[in-house]
Amino acid sequence: MSRALIVDDDLGFRIGVTELVQREGFEVTAASDLAEARQRLAQDPPDVVIVDLMLPDGSGIDLLRDLPAEARTEVIVITGHASVDSVIEALRAGVLDYLTKPVDMPRLKAVLANLTRTAELKSEIGALRRQLRELGRFGRLIGVSPAMQKVYDLIARVAPTDASVLLTGESGTGKEIVAQTIHEISKRRRGPFLPLNCGAMPAGLIESELFGHERGSFTGATQQRRGHFERASAGTLLLDEITEMPIELQVKLLRVLETGTILRIGGDASVKVDARVIAATNRPPEQAVADGKLREDLLYRLNVFPIALPPLRERVGDVALLAERFLDELNQAEGTRKVFREGTEARLDAYAWPGNVRELKNMIHRAFIMAETELDPEIPGNGAVPRPPGLRTGISLEEAERELILATLERNGGDKRRTAEILGIALKTLYNRLKRYQGAAAATDGDEAVESAAPEEGGGGL
Ligand SMILES: Nc1ncnc2c1ncn2[C@@H]1O[C@H](COP(=O)(O)OP(=O)(O)OP(=O)(O)O)[C@@H](O)[C@H]1O
Ligand SMILES: [Mg+2]
Repeated sequence: MSRALIVDDDLGFRIGVTELVQREGFEVTAASDLAEARQRLAQDPPDVVIVDLMLPDGSGIDLLRDLPAEARTEVIVITGHASVDSVIEALRAGVLDYLTKPVDMPRLKAVLANLTRTAELKSEIGALRRQLRELGRFGRLIGVSPAMQKVYDLIARVAPTDASVLLTGESGTGKEIVAQTIHEISKRRRGPFLPLNCGAMPAGLIESELFGHERGSFTGATQQRRGHFERASAGTLLLDEITEMPIELQVKLLRVLETGTILRIGGDASVKVDARVIAATNRPPEQAVADGKLREDLLYRLNVFPIALPPLRERVGDVALLAERFLDELNQAEGTRKVFREGTEARLDAYAWPGNVRELKNMIHRAFIMAETELDPEIPGNGAVPRPPGLRTGISLEEAERELILATLERNGGDKRRTAEILGIALKTLYNRLKRYQGAAAATDGDEAVESAAPEEGGGGL
């Protein structure tokens, strides 16, 4: 029989939780403060400790340090007032989950039911760490630099919990692939992983994509439609480019996160949803708040567990490893045995990678297509900062437009959002142009998720 230790100075609370935990099939002991809890832990570590964050003689988190190293005890923290700082501290210290008072009993039940699954996940995460040492990758993520190892640690800590995660980092640093990794080593991995790119669709559409709509709620709504929140139930929802979400909608999103229910557009009955939310942005979130692009209360709610992805130029040793792996994948897919031309590694290393991993991946892909046997990647400015394109005459306006668009895209490492911004055109327009030029820059971008989240058709001229 599994054993639980409940630590709280509030007797009523202890009794209530003890009853529930017993009903879940645990043998329960209780303690009213840290000192008593430590005694019990030393005698015989239980499978799970449910501990209040604020105890008369200290913080519940301190108990983690008293667990015998070989114990497989999980810790669930209960807090009266969930300050974000204390929750982050708790998760970083390695607690399994946190619950706020008054305790949502069904949630506690779910967490307890998941204990065995969690043990499985932990052993899987252990396997991923071995893979990292042996193969230089953590699941899908390639890289062994200290900067990335820190990221893997954070992923491993937060994945088994249901906490919201905020991913920040420059464009192309891997926010989406990290979100996917978190999903894959979470207990929700058999559920769906749904990304929604708030930057790639018209503001008016985001609300119905998120929450769905009832039939007849607006012209063209001929059927009821479930939104991402409902479809991601038991799974993970990635809200990409969160700062592009209209402010009024951010208010609604916050309400959904707080109540766990949504209202479909045109509907009046709230629907319970169960999606873990991961948000991503390539702007510094505090700056976005200062610029009025992100509501502070929403940031506060999403930022329970922040993970900042380092730019590629700060990942010592990873450029060559990524390049090798990308080439391996292409060779495997095409049944070829192409290699890098001598000296490539040093040249790749010297470059600043403004477009980060995406730029590297696209560059290798391009070089792969061009190469007979030896890849000779075209590094902008031969390792220096890329130069802007010169003005050419004697070509048509349309050709000039094409050159300018492709050159700007290249200079920005394939970052379509930034490219559209610089060119002063709608992102949608950029997608339409790239579609037209297919075979050129757009075709080498392996970023399907963003592609498919982009609007298909639509006007918007230059
Ligand atoms: N560590 C990594 N290992 C392997 N592939 C990676 C890694 N990081 C990123 N990639 C690849 O690089 C490309 C860009 O990554 P991703 O789309 O996750 O970036 P992003 O941070 O979401 O960018 P943006 O802000 O522009 O949306 C993808 O093809 C992804 O698979
Ligand atoms: Mg992305």
